Amino acid sequence: MNGTTSSFMDLTFHVQTFGCQMNKHDSERVTGMLESLGSSCVETIEDADVVVFMTCCVREAADVRLLGQVASMKNVPLRKGSPLEKRIIAVGGCIGQRDGDKLFGELPHLDVVFGTNNLASLPGMLKGVLEGDRHVVETLEESESFPTDLPITRENSWAAWLPITIGCNNFCTYCIVPYVRGREKSRTLEDIVDEAKRYVSAGVKEITLLGQNVNSYGRDLYGKPRFADVLEAVADTGIERLRFATSHPKDLTDEVIAKFGTLDALMPALHLPAQSGSDSILKAMHRSYTVEHYLGLIEKLRDVKPGISLSTDIIVGFPGETEQDFMGTYRLVEEVGYSQVFTFIYSKREGTPAASYFDDTPREVIQERFDRLREVVERGAYDFNQAQKGHVVDVLIEGASKKDSRIATGHSPENINVHAPIPEGAVLEDLVGKIVPVKIEEARTWYLRGTMV
Ligand code: 5AD
Ligand code: SF4
Repeated sequence: MNGTTSSFMDLTFHVQTFGCQMNKHDSERVTGMLESLGSSCVETIEDADVVVFMTCCVREAADVRLLGQVASMKNVPLRKGSPLEKRIIAVGGCIGQRDGDKLFGELPHLDVVFGTNNLASLPGMLKGVLEGDRHVVETLEESESFPTDLPITRENSWAAWLPITIGCNNFCTYCIVPYVRGREKSRTLEDIVDEAKRYVSAGVKEITLLGQNVNSYGRDLYGKPRFADVLEAVADTGIERLRFATSHPKDLTDEVIAKFGTLDALMPALHLPAQSGSDSILKAMHRSYTVEHYLGLIEKLRDVKPGISLSTDIIVGFPGETEQDFMGTYRLVEEVGYSQVFTFIYSKREGTPAASYFDDTPREVIQERFDRLREVVERGAYDFNQAQKGHVVDVLIEGASKKDSRIATGHSPENINVHAPIPEGAVLEDLVGKIVPVKIEEARTWYLRGTMV
């Protein structure tokens, strides 16, 4: 590599994100850091001198996809006018943390591997490569600073993700996250509120508080969970819409549930992963609650906020799952009537306790259960949306529909996708980022359609 390239100023970069909201947020930090050094963010891999993959290893499919993508990078020529002789490729996030320098063996043309706690080191590592280093790796066990201290370039100007904890202490037996994201660490309330205030003054309309288990927020700082205080304090900043993810049912307190009734900004939608509707599977998953407890939470939530939109995660095919266990899950999904269910087929993750659990359930049986579950999921979502017909709902407009540029789309307070034609004389740019009332006329399984009023 020649000496004139030791600056970031002439470089273009692209960040490709896999996985959860926390990864998307980390990508916004990577973009912010590289832009603050003078590099330009570009839309495509082809135009990028530096490509950063922010990876996820929660399920096997994500692993396979990443390896394929990075391998195929060998054949993508550098852009015309690039100051580099070879594109720089970096892999960060959960796969980076888990595999470290092993990745260089499989992908020799990879330059940089960094872990989930090393975002801040990325510029230094890239600089090393620009100066001639080969195969730079850093995977710290623990974060030195909260990634939220880093510069950020947000994906859009009207919504922001705000991490309140990182890591996880729960060790659900199927899950790799605690091994790659480390122990749970909470930010101070002051830090959280400061960041929320900055967003409010910048015109942000919706904040989503993030953590693997937001409900245990503060246990490491104050000795007991104080998530209800966070909700109260962030709502007090004057933010219009407040959401949070993810909640563990074992830690969802009555105080937090009550906030759905008292905080106007807190949107009537909750993602509450059940994972299974069988007590013996929940036990084997190390989830620490029963179906009865879970249903009790749903009842309390609906008492406080009738019409609340509930979503969940379900794993089908956990080792040892019987037809009876599966039917417990089926009935749970049917009974709750979720507006959205993220369904996953169990995927073995090396290093987790469940990886050694015996299972002889044939693949076709698991697939057939999965398909049956999808049917009841779709019915639930359809029924939930029917109840929205005739209502006027406030929609935060995000852009135009992919299929029709004359239709604006956004999300309702219940987090349902809403489409509405752009009114005569109005332009999309003036609507984006605004909250607009829409009268719902049509309800499908995955979206609503209406007219702006
Ligand atoms: N196999 C399948 N699904 C998994 N999830 C986490 N680990 C696994 C796994 N090994 C799902 C859980 C979690 C969601 C983010 O991913 O449902 O809530
Ligand atoms: Fe994984 Fe369980 Fe932690 Fe969620 S709570 S990240 S499923 S270990």
